[in-house]
Amino acid sequence: MKIRIPAVKALSVCIALAFSSGALADQPIIVKFSHVVAENTPKGQGALKFKELAEANLPGKVEVQVFSNSQLFGDGKEMEALLLGDVQIIAPSLAKFDRYTKKLQIFDLPFMFDDMAALDRFQSSDAGQELLNSMKSKGIQGLAYWHNGLKQMSSNKDTLVRPEDIKGLKFRIQSSDVLEAQFRQLGANPQKLAFAEVYQALQTGVVDGAENPWSNIYSQKFHEVQKTIAVTNHGALDYMVITNSGWWDGLPEDIRAGLQKAMAGATEHANKLAAEINDRDQKRIAEAGKAKIQTLTKRDIAAWREAVRPVWAKFSDQIGEDLIAKARASNDD
Ligand code: LMR
Repeated sequence: MKIRIPAVKALSVCIALAFSSGALADQPIIVKFSHVVAENTPKGQGALKFKELAEANLPGKVEVQVFSNSQLFGDGKEMEALLLGDVQIIAPSLAKFDRYTKKLQIFDLPFMFDDMAALDRFQSSDAGQELLNSMKSKGIQGLAYWHNGLKQMSSNKDTLVRPEDIKGLKFRIQSSDVLEAQFRQLGANPQKLAFAEVYQALQTGVVDGAENPWSNIYSQKFHEVQKTIAVTNHGALDYMVITNSGWWDGLPEDIRAGLQKAMAGATEHANKLAAEINDRDQKRIAEAGKAKIQTLTKRDIAAWREAVRPVWAKFSDQIGEDLIAKARASNDD
């Protein structure tokens, strides 16, 4: 028996098929960009700029979806998610790569960079740029460095001037062995915690203190649950924007070029804004009047420097003396 499909129905099936296959071919590539901070921070602004530029460079070809504040993946999960292809771009702080390379520990050594300009010089140097490729064998491709700023030490105590003031206190740290050694050297008790858990840990006294740039302190309201923030500038918190190298290498040439161009524009934008946002947020914290901002003398800073000096020697083999020398040289303008 012959099955007869009415002509009108057959036609509509054909149209539907043609439409759906056409629509599939025209689907934009979805690029998920996940991060753990607020939108009104250097990284938050950089991610939004990347979306704007990528979609302008590649109209209809890519759609960038930005997820801020750990809403898609938090610290513990974002790297795995990138490797599994559940997210395409993330920008962890340089302190969060211990498991993938020891080389990036260079960025956590206390008082390594005199200021953000020195850090920028090192990142732009050949040695700094090579580090973007240091995790290729693990399936991770570095695309750019983004600045946040220098870290400030904060605690729930009235006195935070000299290194001895943090002895015995519990400090939240990022997942970095160098930062762990830094606080142990100072006689404090470091505890690795995901960024999304820090506010509550400070509020409930699970930890007494933390270290972060002004923009993170302000946007996460850490100043509302800390008594003193000392202007220590004792280390940097910057980011490496990374992607899954398999995904990246598999992109059509024009798409990769368009995304690369957008990344260059977003990097310039974020890095220009970083100092401005941190200055603004330091002022906002002062105006809020919740935590006291403790300025330090040169002698106080010298005491902090001296107290953490042994940390460098502990990591020099893992990082390499040569790389340390190059990073130090970036302090000479
Ligand atoms: C932190 O965990 O304190 C920071 O790395 C968060 C961030 O991404 O700035």
